[in-house]
Amino acid sequence: MKVKVRVPATSANLGPGFDVAGVAVSLYNTFTFELIDEGLEITGCPEQFAGEDNLTYEAFCEGAKEVGLEFTGLRIECKDEVPYTRGLGSSSTCIVAGLVGAFAFKGRYNDRQDILNLATRIEGHPDNVAPAIFGGLTVSVNADTVTTLNIPVKNDYRFVAFIPPFTLSTQLSRSVLPDVVSRKDAIGNISHLSLLVASLINGHDEGLRIGFHDHLHQPYRGSLIKGYDEIMHHLEQDEQVLGCYLSGAGPTLMAVIRADDLMGVVRLKEAMHDCLDGWEVMKLEMDRQGYVCDFE
Ligand code: HSE
Repeated sequence: MKVKVRVPATSANLGPGFDVAGVAVSLYNTFTFELIDEGLEITGCPEQFAGEDNLTYEAFCEGAKEVGLEFTGLRIECKDEVPYTRGLGSSSTCIVAGLVGAFAFKGRYNDRQDILNLATRIEGHPDNVAPAIFGGLTVSVNADTVTTLNIPVKNDYRFVAFIPPFTLSTQLSRSVLPDVVSRKDAIGNISHLSLLVASLINGHDEGLRIGFHDHLHQPYRGSLIKGYDEIMHHLEQDEQVLGCYLSGAGPTLMAVIRADDLMGVVRLKEAMHDCLDGWEVMKLEMDRQGYVCDFE
C-alpha cells in the first residue's frame, strides 16, 4: 500500500499577522510514502535533501512515534511545485506531509488537530502549517495546544506572487527582527490585523487597503530583499491592488487583487517590467481544502 499526500503552498503573515495568519494557495507538493523492508529511499528532491535529515522523513518519524507505527524501511517519492526557501511554505508542506503519511498508515489521516499540534511543535509557529492542514485563510493561537479558525472570506480574490530568483532563509529573516517593540507598533499591528480580518469577512475592500500594513517585521526585512522598496511602491500605487505584503519570511512579495481584475497580472508585469528581471510572477487562487490524502 502507498499513501499519497498532496499539500498546498502557503503564504504566511498577510502583513500584520506575524506568526498568526496564513493562507493556502493553489500550488502543491505531492509526497508518496511506502513502507519497505529496510533503509530509506527518497526520490524526486535534490540529492542534498535525500538523507536521514530530510524534513519529510523527520516529520514522518515524529508522526510514527505519536501513532505507534513501527516500520523498518521507508520509500518517499516527492513531486515539488513549491519553490524552496522563497516564503511559500515549502518546509511546511514537508512537515505536514510527513506527519499525515505516518498517521495514514494507522488510519488517522484525518486527525487534523493532532497533526496541527505536532506540525506546530516542529515548525515553531502555526501560521504556515495551519492553512496547509485546513486550507483557506486561517488565524491561529499557539498556547498549550494550537487553536486555528478559518476566516470566511466573502469576496473572491487572487494572490499574485512575485518570486525572486534568489532565496532567503527564514533563520536569517528572523534574525533581523527586534525582540522588543514599541506600544505604538504593537497597537498598530493589532488594529491592522483586526481590520484585515473584519474586511475579509465583510467583503470591505477599502478596509483591505489599510489592513495589510505591518509594523513588526516587514520594515526590518525589506533591506534583505533586492528590489523590495521598488516593487512594493509599484504595488501600492496600483489602484486595483487591494494589498501587498511580504509572503512569510520572504523573499516572495504578494499582491492581492479581486478575481474579476482579469488584466491584473498583465498590467502589473508591464508596469514593473524594469524591476522584475529574473522574477517569476504567478497568479494563485486560495486553496480551500488543505492537504489531501489518498491510498494506492
Ligand atoms: N511567520 C514566519 C516568519 C513565517 O515570518 O518568520 C516563516 O516561517
